[in-house]
Amino acid sequence: MKSQDKIRLNDGTHIPIIAFGTWTAGGGSIVTERVDQALDVGFNHIDTAQLYRNEEETGVAIRESGLSRDEIYVTTKYSGFKDIETSIQDSLKNLGLSYVDLYLIHSPRLAQGDIPALWKKMEKIKADGLAKSIGVSNFQVDDLKILLKHAKVVPAVNQIQFHPYVYQQQRAVHAFGNEQGIITEAYSALIPITRRPGGPLDAPLNKIAERLNATPDQVLLAWVKAKGAVTVTYSSKKDRLEGYLKAMELELTSEDINELDSAGAKKGTLAVLKRPVLLISLISLTYSALRVFGVRM
Ligand SMILES: NC(=O)c1ccc[n+]([C@@H]2O[C@H](COP(=O)([O-])OP(=O)(O)OC[C@H]3O[C@@H](n4cnc5c(N)ncnc54)[C@H](OP(=O)(O)O)[C@@H]3O)[C@@H](O)[C@H]2O)c1
Repeated sequence: MKSQDKIRLNDGTHIPIIAFGTWTAGGGSIVTERVDQALDVGFNHIDTAQLYRNEEETGVAIRESGLSRDEIYVTTKYSGFKDIETSIQDSLKNLGLSYVDLYLIHSPRLAQGDIPALWKKMEKIKADGLAKSIGVSNFQVDDLKILLKHAKVVPAVNQIQFHPYVYQQQRAVHAFGNEQGIITEAYSALIPITRRPGGPLDAPLNKIAERLNATPDQVLLAWVKAKGAVTVTYSSKKDRLEGYLKAMELELTSEDINELDSAGAKKGTLAVLKRPVLLISLISLTYSALRVFGVRM
């Protein structure tokens, strides 16, 4: 197995540049099969979350892979189902691990208006060795500024939706992250071809793909890499997963990148950014309400 290229994080650890995300796999034993397949193909970075409710199935695949702990990089996220101290313990138990490589706050909404207080608890999780690195997800510049004002540890990453159709909207937070040493992780980078086909990106993506003897999905992942971001992606298909890994070797020219940036900007604002945040808020509110009524989870 070829180990993936890595990016150095601000805490001195290294993160593989592409991750296999388990949210898209859903739940049940299919998740174990999909993670198994991804590890077989050569992915060594798995991204899951409390919200996805498939940490246990992910953990089975990790154990069955036979990989040693330092050969695999595991991310999970605090999604607000319980208090954070219990949540990290639950996640570790579900995954069958004594630590995760990266632990993220899934959304700033989970801080319930007190980002510094929640981040302090994240810092303790890192200090206690339960997570090697800590970071955030779906944070915007204002959220990061609030966090950084009181932080002892700068978040290692910010996982956000990132592709040319939202580049204009995400540019500020990506640039701010770069200034502060926070690596952007890109989720749903393939939206331009999976959920928004037929737009201004189609022509340049196809043209660049043809020149490089690649596919449009590979070009999108190469664009993410060219922006200095880590990709979090998914496929149910072995061939496609192999293609994703090969995409990490594609070199886009600065003309390619400019062309994709400007075609992306022609789409106008996509109202997709708040969706995961709203979903998490809704789920977390439901769980809080159930707790109030004494329902155990
Ligand atoms: N932090 C957050 O709030 C957050 C939010 C969303 C996602 N995530 C993470 O990011 C991961 C990936 O998210 P995503 O699934 O939205 O990522 P994505 O990389 O944009 O999309 C992956 C999907 O694209 C399909 N695909 C790839 N190439 C294609 C092509 N040429 N034509 C048609 N379909 C194609 C794949 O389908 P096939 O299976 O058919 O190959 C797969 O279902 C999640 O699992 C999760 O771990 C995080």
